Amino acid sequence: MDPFGIVGTGRMAQALGATLCRRGVPVAAVAGNDREKARGAANFIGAPHATLIRDLPLYVKRILVAVSDDAIPRVTRELAACGTKPEVVLHTSGAAGPDALGALRTSGGSIGVIHPLQTVSSPEQGVRTLPASAFACAGDPEAVEWAQQLIRVLDGKALVIGTQNWELYHTAAVMACNYHVTLIDAALELMESAGIARDSGLAALEPLIRTTTDNILRSGPEAALTGPIRRGDLGTIRQHMAALKSASRTTRNLYSAAAVRTLPLAQRAGLPAEAVRQLGEAIEESGA
Ligand SMILES: NC(=O)c1ccc[n+]([C@@H]2O[C@H](COP(=O)([O-])OP(=O)(O)OC[C@H]3O[C@@H](n4cnc5c(N)ncnc54)[C@H](OP(=O)(O)O)[C@@H]3O)[C@@H](O)[C@H]2O)c1
Repeated sequence: MDPFGIVGTGRMAQALGATLCRRGVPVAAVAGNDREKARGAANFIGAPHATLIRDLPLYVKRILVAVSDDAIPRVTRELAACGTKPEVVLHTSGAAGPDALGALRTSGGSIGVIHPLQTVSSPEQGVRTLPASAFACAGDPEAVEWAQQLIRVLDGKALVIGTQNWELYHTAAVMACNYHVTLIDAALELMESAGIARDSGLAALEPLIRTTTDNILRSGPEAALTGPIRRGDLGTIRQHMAALKSASRTTRNLYSAAAVRTLPLAQRAGLPAEAVRQLGEAIEESGA
């Protein structure tokens, strides 16, 4: 595969660059704001050159931009200002769709996104965990084609998303990751109100959280759902709604919204429609 260049000297730039380089896709140059940081990142990746962003298109036709989300427009302008125009450019942000690189399309390039559905807390950890991860990609045909080639090299799973659906895709990723954290935090708040310290609460919840996650991944949400809504236990839900009166308003709202969203899931899992209706009324009547 043709050599490519990377803009960025942080965790994702180093992890993705080093992983691809070690799997036989040469990284010709690494560019950053700061030459010293670019040199350090190039060393880690195994790239022969470190350069400034505006000069990167002089080295390569294909570029991967892995900088902070807010820096993408500025980097795009710098790359577009170079006398030599890059042919294909991908960025790695989930927050921004392909159009964040718009100025490069205007100058004749093909633009897109390759978003690793993986968390990279350090370059070394990323080199271990990026292979076999899922990667979402979107954008112009040539950019998506390059993204898919890179994903194949990484033994990854490609998720091709229509550009118009990019925000919905990223919202889903945030729900599965970040708001899962929020649900656990709310549970710890309720544990604390019940007299159980947060660290003890978290340790106690660990087997429950792990088994639930395993069940969802192995069998899907319908089969993994247990608990009072799945059983149609109206009295238990009424007790919960009463107990939540002493909880914070945001936790009450979160419980109600999650409970209401659980009703159609329980119905798909086999709960009769009449039980679903009664549970819905009980949640609504509580005014939480
Ligand atoms: N890490 C993850 O888990 C993860 C997962 C999926 C996607 N991503 C995406 O990958 C991208 C990079 O994230 P990261 O975790 O690698 O961040 P990071 O470690 O904080 O690195 C950010 C990089 O952006 C550069 N940068 C910041 N402002 C800049 C500017 N104005 N011009 C040029 N470069 C600038 C920084 O350079 P300086 O240090 O010189 O400022 C640094 O090289 C982001 O779009 C992020 O959404 C990250």
